[in-house]
Amino acid sequence: MSQPLIQHHLLLCATPAKALCSPDPTVGPESWTALKRLVREWGLEDPARPEGIVLRSKADCLRICVEGPVLLIWPEGIVYGGVTAERVERILKEHVIGGAPIEEWIVKRMPFQASKA
Ligand code: FES
Repeated sequence: MSQPLIQHHLLLCATPAKALCSPDPTVGPESWTALKRLVREWGLEDPARPEGIVLRSKADCLRICVEGPVLLIWPEGIVYGGVTAERVERILKEHVIGGAPIEEWIVKRMPFQASKA
């Protein structure tokens, strides 16, 4: 059985146990709810999607711990800060679907080292 292509994997530090990155604990859960809903509603999990599917995971701590909630997007290794539900919508539209990262919200870039395999 063939696996669907993966276009992006989104990891959101939504409800970290130590809450180091987000001073308001209500924002992360709202962002996570919006992320799950929009990924589903916009068909981004559809295995027939030509660009590949979009995976999303709720992470405890991504070791960024500033300007949370933070959202890490692979494969680019781009980290967005201050990710409210409104920002989730724009990030999905412009970055994930449109391919254009939103520079003013990026707090860190952590690309993989190029593989030698
Ligand atoms: S607590 Fe959110 S990245 Fe560490």
